[in-house]
Amino acid sequence: MAQTILELRNVNSFYGESQILFDLNLQVPEAGSVCILGRNGVGKSTTMKSIMGLLNPKNRSRVTGSIQYKGKELVGAPSYQVARTGIAYVPQGRHIFPTLTTKENLLIAERRGEGGQQEWTIERIYDLFPSLKARENFKGGRLSGGEQQMLTVARGLMQNPRVLLLDEITEGLAPIVVDELGEIINRLRENNVTILLAEQNVNFALAVSSQCYIMEKGSIVYHGSTKDTPKEVFAQYLGL
Ligand SMILES: Nc1ncnc2c1ncn2[C@@H]1O[C@H](COP(=O)(O)OP(=O)(O)O)[C@@H](O)[C@H]1O
Ligand SMILES: [Mg+2]
Repeated sequence: MAQTILELRNVNSFYGESQILFDLNLQVPEAGSVCILGRNGVGKSTTMKSIMGLLNPKNRSRVTGSIQYKGKELVGAPSYQVARTGIAYVPQGRHIFPTLTTKENLLIAERRGEGGQQEWTIERIYDLFPSLKARENFKGGRLSGGEQQMLTVARGLMQNPRVLLLDEITEGLAPIVVDELGEIINRLRENNVTILLAEQNVNFALAVSSQCYIMEKGSIVYHGSTKDTPKEVFAQYLGL
């Protein structure tokens, strides 16, 4: 069994007075790929924001419980510090700089990883995303939706993370682009990047992850290995 690199224990998250996450327990093995599935509003993005230190008193939100990266406590750490430990976050909604070129979008995201390692150079990223190489001098705003989403994932990699959090990267994309993203995620897995993804697209999640958690109303209601999970489980919780 691979070692756990990221672990949530009894995590409760709040926006103001309203509790959004309830006693979440979740483990991500090193170099593994884990997905969180659930309908709109169940708390997938809040889980990712909690990991990234984005719920804090500055925005009247908070997290209790424990979130550990390689045994190091992250609850209470500011988000820049969480990012420095080796976790990169691709938020939901394709946030890129529309007036900067593809290449500029990548270069401003560049950062050395843990211990100064720089595994993901722009050349390596272009190998993985040939369509970005072909559009390197295009402004971000001129890219297609699929290319913009590729760019957000590529920007995450420019941070040389150990763990990549991907929040609904397939949202609103054509099936062919979803397949392309799936191939890229599987290439990342071969390169030992640890992946935690939030998804509503079950087929995509199944194609790229080895374990899945299903959430409902802020709680985890199911956890299992992706390949051993009967289709009825997804139907029950996700209404397929
Ligand atoms: N900044 C916020 N302030 C208050 N409530 C929020 C905030 N962001 C999300 N919520 C609420 O938290 C719940 C979970 O949202 P979210 O984590 O975005 O779900 P998901 O990503 O699964 O769609 C929803 O009920 C949503 O309305
Ligand atoms: Mg979300």
